[in-house]
Amino acid sequence: MKSLMSILFLICIGISSLAHAELRSLRGSEVMNGDVPSENFRWEKDRKPLPRHFVQQPPIIPHSTKGYLITKEFNKCLDCHSWDRTADTGATKISITHFKTRGGTELTNVSPRRYFCQQCHVPQTDAKPLVGNTFQPAAGLVKK
Ligand code: HEC
Ligand code: HEC
Repeated sequence: MKSLMSILFLICIGISSLAHAELRSLRGSEVMNGDVPSENFRWEKDRKPLPRHFVQQPPIIPHSTKGYLITKEFNKCLDCHSWDRTADTGATKISITHFKTRGGTELTNVSPRRYFCQQCHVPQTDAKPLVGNTFQPAAGLVKK
């Protein structure tokens, strides 16, 4: 049994080192050389909510989130954005879609699958885009 375990262990190590070998950043090797300090940007100023670019888009965060912690016990975002806080904070209520579980059950509080807000909502900084793109907003959202 013991030797079977060590063989499995060695296979796992083998697979993970293979995965490392194939890791590539979008713009080549720069990121891997460690030349981009993670704090090398400035937060954009807080402002009104920004326009969306496609109908299903999670809205972009229009304010700094510096130091906003999300842990198992505490969620700084919900401190302002949960339905019982927005009257005092002026923040947008989290959407009603955020109460539905993966299985379709409606909860009385935010669903675990929506708990980690920054999985979908991103704040803005003056960081240069890693790669160019030609994305155009969806036709239904462009002012005529
Ligand atoms: C101190 C209170 C506060 C905290 C904490 C906070 N927000 Fe906000 N948030 C606001 C306010 C106020 C607005 C702007 C509402 C307005 O002007 O209509 C806003 C706007 C937003 C919007 C834009 C909504 C839209 O309709 O476009 C998103 C998305 C958002 N916040 C996400 C987050 C996330 C994610 C976190 C945690 C990382 C967070 N917020 C933490 C107060 C807060
Ligand atoms: C799995 C992706 C995902 C996660 C995680 C998530 N959101 Fe959202 N959020 C969305 C999408 C998509 C929309 C726009 C469509 C909708 O309303 O469901 C949205 C809409 C919103 C809005 C705008 C509501 C409105 O009425 O315009 C706010 C505010 C918001 N989210 C805050 C949060 C906060 C705070 C968290 C963390 C507790 C969070 N979201 C977690 C995807 C997500």
